[in-house]
Amino acid sequence: MGWTTTHIPDQSGRTALVTGASAGIGFETARVLAAHGAHVVLACRDTERGSSAAERIDGSTEVVPLDLASLTSVRQAAGLVRGRHRRLDLLVNNAGVMFPSYRRTKDGFEAHLGVNHLGHFALTGLLLDLMTSVPGSRVVTVASLAHRVGFGRLDEAAARSSTGRRSMAAYGRSKLANLMFARELQRRLAVAGAATVSVAAHPGLSPTALWHGDPPALARPLAAAGMRWLAQPVEAAALPSLRAAVDPAVHGGAYLGPSERFGGRGAPEPARSSRAARSGAERGRLWTLSEELTGVRYVCEPAVLETPASAAETASAPAVAVCPVTGARA
Ligand SMILES: NC(=O)c1ccc[n+]([C@@H]2O[C@H](COP(=O)([O-])OP(=O)(O)OC[C@H]3O[C@@H](n4cnc5c(N)ncnc54)[C@H](OP(=O)(O)O)[C@@H]3O)[C@@H](O)[C@H]2O)c1
Repeated sequence: MGWTTTHIPDQSGRTALVTGASAGIGFETARVLAAHGAHVVLACRDTERGSSAAERIDGSTEVVPLDLASLTSVRQAAGLVRGRHRRLDLLVNNAGVMFPSYRRTKDGFEAHLGVNHLGHFALTGLLLDLMTSVPGSRVVTVASLAHRVGFGRLDEAAARSSTGRRSMAAYGRSKLANLMFARELQRRLAVAGAATVSVAAHPGLSPTALWHGDPPALARPLAAAGMRWLAQPVEAAALPSLRAAVDPAVHGGAYLGPSERFGGRGAPEPARSSRAARSGAERGRLWTLSEELTGVRYVCEPAVLETPASAAETASAPAVAVCPVTGARA
């Protein structure tokens, strides 16, 4: 039998933050972590939906407003978490959009890349020093089988494009970025000698609200056919993220996904990524671009978002922990 929730060790005393915990795979991830004793921060775009999710979870939770389509919101969420918590054991970068109703985020980034990658890049950078000295701490980033169709360059033009709203390639690029980010973060954490590791996961296919967007005409029947044959319930789709977060046998840099039907369903096992996801040079380029676009730098010095900030925000400006060059920590 494959890995299931029965394999999850006791999570008492640990604090986990799950983005997009109001619904779907994020909700299930948060629910299971809380059921195993973790205190779970539900980081949600819509706080009413977040509170309703918290009410349905049996365990210790809190809700933090987080809109990944706004760097200001990301900064405020990080400030709130830092004000309430001195350490973080798990950060699950789960939230995502596909074929959303808007073209660009509030900061002018292409919607998929902005929410799925750049928002999480900034959030992770702004929270990382709560983790880097915590033994067993992990950053889990949720990618997708669709990273393989992330055609085209991950450059500034793509990041600012207004034409990706109904494009599977744009969604795929954002998921490729998730995977490259997870790998590059692991490399940097290892060089820095941090206690934290970075792991990636993908859920296979699951009939969540992710599929309720506005897809191109051909995608709808293809998705419906794929769902019938490949999909698994959300409880199973959350297992790769959960295993990536808590299985002691999983190491930094791993990528987990369902093991059956081309990765669409099945027990969570090591998954294969595309050659593009493994390219060190491309990962480095994406990292630099992401730092430039978000204004969040992963350095020894306190990190500051370079977007205009109010005095109150500046007061709670967090520090970032990892120094990739010297291994020193802030
Ligand atoms: N389902 C699949 O077949 C599948 C396949 C491959 C990968 N994935 C990945 O799995 C992850 C979870 O997706 P899901 O299937 O569970 O989809 P979902 O049911 O639509 O849940 C997505 C979550 O992300 C949140 N979210 C959306 N935009 C946000 C923003 N701007 N800021 C903060 N949160 C935001 C949503 O909040 P609201 O409740 O406010 O909308 C929701 O909680 C995503 O990264 C997705 O790419 C899913």
